[in-house]
Amino acid sequence: MLTAERDADPTMRAVVDWRALPAAQQPEWPDEGHLQRVTKELAELPPLVFAAESRDLTGALARVAEGRAFLLQAGDCAESFTSFSAESVRRRLQVILQMAVVLTYSSGVPTVKIGRIAGQFAKPRSSGFETVDGVTLPSFRGHIVNDDAFTETARRPDPQRLLQAYHQSASTLNLLRSLTRGGFSDLNQVHSWTQDFVTATPQGQQYRALADEIGRALRFMTACGVDTASLPTLHRTDFFTSHEALLLPYEEALTRADPMSGDLYATSAHMIWIGERTRQLEGAHVAYFASVANPIGCKVGPTATADEVLELCERLNPDRIPGRLTLISRMGAAGIEDGLRPLLAAVRDAEHPVVWACDPMHGHTFTSDSGHKTRRVDDILDEIAGFFRAHEAEGTWAGGVHVELTSDDVTECLGGSHEILDSDLDARYETVCDPRLNGRQSLDLAFRVAEALRARSAA
Ligand code: PEP
Ligand code: CO
Repeated sequence: MLTAERDADPTMRAVVDWRALPAAQQPEWPDEGHLQRVTKELAELPPLVFAAESRDLTGALARVAEGRAFLLQAGDCAESFTSFSAESVRRRLQVILQMAVVLTYSSGVPTVKIGRIAGQFAKPRSSGFETVDGVTLPSFRGHIVNDDAFTETARRPDPQRLLQAYHQSASTLNLLRSLTRGGFSDLNQVHSWTQDFVTATPQGQQYRALADEIGRALRFMTACGVDTASLPTLHRTDFFTSHEALLLPYEEALTRADPMSGDLYATSAHMIWIGERTRQLEGAHVAYFASVANPIGCKVGPTATADEVLELCERLNPDRIPGRLTLISRMGAAGIEDGLRPLLAAVRDAEHPVVWACDPMHGHTFTSDSGHKTRRVDDILDEIAGFFRAHEAEGTWAGGVHVELTSDDVTECLGGSHEILDSDLDARYETVCDPRLNGRQSLDLAFRVAEALRARSAA
C-alpha cells in the first residue's frame, strides 16, 4: 500500500504496524482465506462498545491510579459457547456486584467494576499441542478458536467461531446493559444478590449483616429528607467489560476510528489486556495496544524486570495519561514481595501514573493428585496480603484485584472456609480452562480484601 493512502486511514496505520511484527500465541488457521472472509464480515458489523464509554472507564481508573478508588476486575477464565444463558450472565454479574458492595462499604472509596466477560474467549497456552494416551492434538485455545473436546475435528481452529464469539458478546453486553441500568442493580436489592447455597454460610450471614446496614443507611437518608428515589447512582451502576485481546485479526476487525476524537479504539470491549505470554516489547501485541486509545492492562509475571516494565509503560502510555495503563502483577505468593517491590519503586520514581492490580490466580495453578488443574484459596489470599504489604512498604497504592470466579457452587479451587478437598474436585468441576473461585470463596475473598482496605484507611 502507498504510504500516503495508509497515512490517510488511521485504521490501516495501526494494522500495518502490528502486522510487521511477530505475534505470539496465534492459532494455525487451516484456511487463511476463510479467516479473511470472516474478519471482513466482522469489520462491517457494529462496534460492541463506544469510545465515550471507554473514556469514562479511563476516567474511573485515573481515580484508582490517584489512590481515590479501588478496582475489581473479575469473571471467567474463559467464557463458554456451551454454557451460555441469560441466567449465567445474571449470576456472574451478581457475584461481582456483591463483592463490590463489600469492598465499597469497607473502604469508603468507589469500586470500579470490570468483568472478564462479553469477549473473554481466547486462551494462550503453554504448549501448542496436548497428548492424551499417546494421541497428540492441537491444544484447546478457547471457544473463539476451537472446541475443548479431545478429537481432531473439535480441535481444528475454525474462523467461523470468531463470528459466534462476536454475537455472544453482543447478547451478553445487551443483557449486562439492561441489568445494570436499574432494578437488578438497585442498592435496595443488595439482599437478593446472594446465591441460595451461600445464604446459610458464615460469609452469607456476614454479607446479610452488611446488607442490613446498607438498608438502614438508605432508610436513614430518606428519613432525613434525602429523596433517594431520584438519585440515579443508587439505582444503577457502571459496569465495564474486558478480555485478553489475544487474537489480533479479531481485534483489528473491531478497531474503529472514533468520529469525535479521530483516535482509534478497540470496540470489542471497554478495556483489553495483554497476557503474560504476549507482552514482548518488540511483539505485535504491544504494537497493537499502543495504537488504540482504550484503557489497557498488561500482566506482569515473576520474570519481569524493572527495565522491561518501564519500557512497557513508555510504549503503552507515552503521554502518561492516568488510568490508561493497569499493570496486573501475577507473581505467586512466595515471590510477590521481593518480585513486586523493585517494580513498584521503579514505576513510582519514573512518575508513571499506573493502576497496580493483583492477579493472585495465575501464579498458583498446579495439577492435584486427582488429576485436576487447581489452585489453593490460601495461596490466593496470601498473594493478596503480600501485594498490600509490598505497596505499603513502597508507599504506593494497592489499586485492585483481578480474579477468576463464578457465582456458582463449583468445586475447582481447594480450601476456603468451607473446605474443598482434592477428593471433592470431581463433583462440580465445570471450567473450560482455569479453576475459578465459587460464589462462597469469592465472597470470602471480598471480605479478606475489605479487611486489608480497612486496615489501610486506618493507618
Ligand atoms: C488469564 O488471565 O486467563 C491468563 C492466561 O493470564 P496470564 O496471561 O497472566 O497467564
Ligand atoms: Co486463567
